[in-house]
Amino acid sequence: MLQADRDRGPRSSMSGAAAGGSAPRPALPLAQAVALALALSLSPSPALAGFSCGPGARPVVFNFGDSNSDTGGMAAAKGWRIAPPEGRAFFHRPTGRFCDGRLIIDFLCESLNISYLSPYLKALGSNYSNGVNFAISGSTTLPRDVLFTLHGQVQEFFFFKARSLELINQGQQVPIDAESFQNALYTIDIGQNDINALLSNLPYDQVVAKFPPILAEIKDAVQLLYANGSRNFWIHGTGALGCLPQKLAIPRKNDSDLDQNGCLKTYNRAAVTFNAALGSLCDQLNVELKNATVVYTDLFAIKYDLVANHTKYGFDSPLMTCCGYGGPPYNYDLSRSCQSPNATVCADGSKFVSWDGVHLTEAANAAAAAAILSSAYSRPKLKFDQFCKT
Ligand SMILES: *[C@@H]1O[C@H](CO)[C@@H](O)[C@H](O)[C@H]1NC(C)=O
Ligand SMILES: *[C@@H]1O[C@H](CO)[C@@H](O)[C@H](O)[C@H]1NC(C)=O
Ligand SMILES: *[C@@H]1O[C@H](CO)[C@@H](O)[C@H](O)[C@H]1NC(C)=O
Ligand SMILES: *[C@@H]1O[C@H](CO)[C@@H](O)[C@H](O)[C@H]1NC(C)=O
Ligand SMILES: *[C@@H]1O[C@H](CO)[C@@H](O)[C@H](O)[C@H]1NC(C)=O
Ligand SMILES: *[C@@H]1O[C@H](CO)[C@@H](O)[C@H](O)[C@H]1NC(C)=O
Ligand SMILES: *[C@@H]1O[C@H](CO)[C@@H](O)[C@H](O)[C@H]1NC(C)=O
Repeated sequence: MLQADRDRGPRSSMSGAAAGGSAPRPALPLAQAVALALALSLSPSPALAGFSCGPGARPVVFNFGDSNSDTGGMAAAKGWRIAPPEGRAFFHRPTGRFCDGRLIIDFLCESLNISYLSPYLKALGSNYSNGVNFAISGSTTLPRDVLFTLHGQVQEFFFFKARSLELINQGQQVPIDAESFQNALYTIDIGQNDINALLSNLPYDQVVAKFPPILAEIKDAVQLLYANGSRNFWIHGTGALGCLPQKLAIPRKNDSDLDQNGCLKTYNRAAVTFNAALGSLCDQLNVELKNATVVYTDLFAIKYDLVANHTKYGFDSPLMTCCGYGGPPYNYDLSRSCQSPNATVCADGSKFVSWDGVHLTEAANAAAAAAILSSAYSRPKLKFDQFCKT
């Protein structure tokens, strides 16, 4: 690809991990497709598998979240000069992603055959025809009054939408038309930073007691978007926090909190508890919001499986960073993290789950995206591309 902005989509070069089959299936109205998928959810049907955004479809995705799905927003906002080895495995230069290559959201875009999402705040080289990425590294849901919280990202979306509609009314060309705003998929992946912040300051039971306000922010975001005409939501649970080298490297008195895979039970229990509540919230929203589809996907199960069954995915060292400092068992040192000049980097990132102690490698993101696209971890068990209309 010889485009000036090389972190745009590969269009026809879909990766093996994320690409579906290429036979388009006939378009179904969304409600009908949902009913069909629900009826078949106990035995996933080949009729629902594969690529369903037929020729001429223009799938649009709006994403909200933290560094797990930030494709360069924080780097643009702060003017950060993110240095190699970020991006080395795929883009071959730093793009503002905290990863050696593609993120889960990138693979999900590839599965729809659309360009990678441009960050909302990236002034040059952006193309919003396929959607906008509002995700910003470090984002939380709370407190609301800091920049780039989930609520703030939703306000940015409303700004973008209002401005688009204003320009359309003036007869101008805009990347996304009114109908596409309604038919788009709205993806949300946030909460990890909220839970982490709580766990570093409070005992477990007090942490869990603080989940309801976080969940209320996610609920509020979906309700605000729904009230504005958005109908298709795809919500990710949080990951296996207790398997992150960053958490494992915190000095501990003894190993009694480690599970059989070497992960911290307390952190993982918090993640599982959060996800159970988030899943219930999504079930509730699915009932309450008429005409909306809210899919919940359990990223904990997906990411924990990458660690527990790492050999199946070709990973050698599931609890050690590729880019970090200090060597085994975790190769993580807060003062010499991946972006510090003293960090060391592994030869082959595809053998590692963790890129920098907090974020996954491109290889792990590819495996996680494939699991998401399988629908096995989603409720209801809908395909990621079910919202596409031809
Ligand atoms: C993917 O997009 C490219 C370029 O827009 C198009 O040529 C190709 O047919 C699309 N593939 C599918 C499976 O729709
Ligand atoms: C933006 O992306 C769309 C869809 O991928 C493409 O058709 C269009 O040419 C792109 N615009 C620019 C200015 O690159
Ligand atoms: C929702 O969208 C409409 C246009 O469809 C806009 O006028 C309104 O201000 C939006 N609401 C919010 C909260 O931004
Ligand atoms: C391990 O440390 C925890 C506190 O971190 C303590 O409650 C527990 O009793 C210790 N277990 C052993 C076997 O020393
Ligand atoms: C749901 O969709 C139906 C049919 O398109 C429409 O008549 C109805 O107003 C919608 N309800 C809501 C709450 O949007
Ligand atoms: C590991 O893989 C096996 C076989 O696929 C599966 O049954 C098990 O649930 C996986 N373990 C985890 C923790 O996901
Ligand atoms: C990094 O390395 C330089 C020189 O090799 C050294 O002076 C500095 O103290 C190191 N910093 C850390 C945080 O280890």
